[in-house]
Amino acid sequence: MQLGSESEWEAEQSLNELGQLVQTAGAEVVGCIMQRIEKPNVRTFVGSGKAERVMQLARAEHADLVIFDVDLSPSQQRNLEGIISKVKIIDRTGIIIDIFAQHAHSAEGKLQVELAQLNYLLPRLRGMWQHLERQGVGGVGLRGPGETQLETDKRLMRKRIQRLNKELEELKQNRSTQRKQRKRQGIYSIALVGYTNAGKSTLLNALTGADVLVEDKLFATLDSTSRKLNMDHHRKEVVISDTVGFIKKLPHQLVAAFRSTLDEVKMADLLLHIVDASHPQLEGQIKAVEDVLEELEADQKPQILILNKIDLVDSTDRTRLRKLYPDAVQVSAGEGIGFDKVRDAIDKQMRKGMVRLHVLIPYTRGELIQKLYSLGLIISEDHTAEGTDIVADVPEENSSEFSSYVAS
Ligand code: GTP
Repeated sequence: MQLGSESEWEAEQSLNELGQLVQTAGAEVVGCIMQRIEKPNVRTFVGSGKAERVMQLARAEHADLVIFDVDLSPSQQRNLEGIISKVKIIDRTGIIIDIFAQHAHSAEGKLQVELAQLNYLLPRLRGMWQHLERQGVGGVGLRGPGETQLETDKRLMRKRIQRLNKELEELKQNRSTQRKQRKRQGIYSIALVGYTNAGKSTLLNALTGADVLVEDKLFATLDSTSRKLNMDHHRKEVVISDTVGFIKKLPHQLVAAFRSTLDEVKMADLLLHIVDASHPQLEGQIKAVEDVLEELEADQKPQILILNKIDLVDSTDRTRLRKLYPDAVQVSAGEGIGFDKVRDAIDKQMRKGMVRLHVLIPYTRGELIQKLYSLGLIISEDHTAEGTDIVADVPEENSSEFSSYVAS
């Protein structure tokens, strides 16, 4: 189901994407109904006539599940279940949370997904019990619970939510300590961001030689992975991290739940925004990523746009894309095209606002060398009789601190 604000083409693309999400979750699409509505019905989102039609289609196709490509309120979901009986109703958020649940591997990822699941389920709990009762589903563990059981369940859920929040807060502290350590050591951090399936993991693997899971599935990567990136031009340590794929209408609960992982984005020195250049909805996907970056307050960060999968784009479209995105780097992570340009673009970004210094630091001033390492990019370093001979690029505002030691 689509809202009236989208064009028909966009609506179709969004439904296609929902189909992919369904497949990723492990189900099969047996039918599809689209409707343009200017204003959603408060009770049932779609009109009751349309809901009847959905029910008929679901019956005819023996569907177990009906998914709405919108966010349904808990009461809309309940009311729809009243009309489209014997079938489970979920919305876009529900299916995305389901996929996240299957793909979370790290302890933190699992906690984050559980938190999102509970926050999603809590207001829907009553409906779930009523739904089972109405269908006459009973038996051990599924008998109608009555108000007392419902209240007990809600209380337990709230307690668990509190506990998860506490555990996640502790993990967040650990992460933030790690990040501070990296900052102190002068490590430059890059975060890969991008629409799901754009090729972030493939690029991370290709650039760093790491072995990160690559799958032609939405949200294959859920847990953030950090790897060292060796730069040819200088000796600065660079760490590059993969993050969860973004998607249009990314459920707010998930952005909130994944905030500590996504903080990797917020804290990064540079973002590489990976785009699937062969995707028909490329512009929409770029916009969706920008929206999430804004929500994370990371939209002002230095960014390099990487147009990936360029091997799937013909030369006319490559030229068109070059005009449209003149600063973007065209690459194929899969075919190994354009990596030098990515490194060069990163290097250029790292050197922004820097000036080159050639200094001779006496051995008694070891702290200055440390400072050079943490602030700047070391180009070369030699140990001479008089001290350490260093060529480095440093931020312009710090260059005066080394002026007494400029080599003749
Ligand atoms: P999420 O985990 O969903 O966020 O995906 P991701 O952005 O990490 O994408 P991933 O690297 O898993 O790649 C998704 C699919 O695109 C895989 O089937 C890759 O093999 C394919 N792919 C990645 N880069 C390229 C490329 O340059 N060319 C082609 N043809 N396919 C690519």
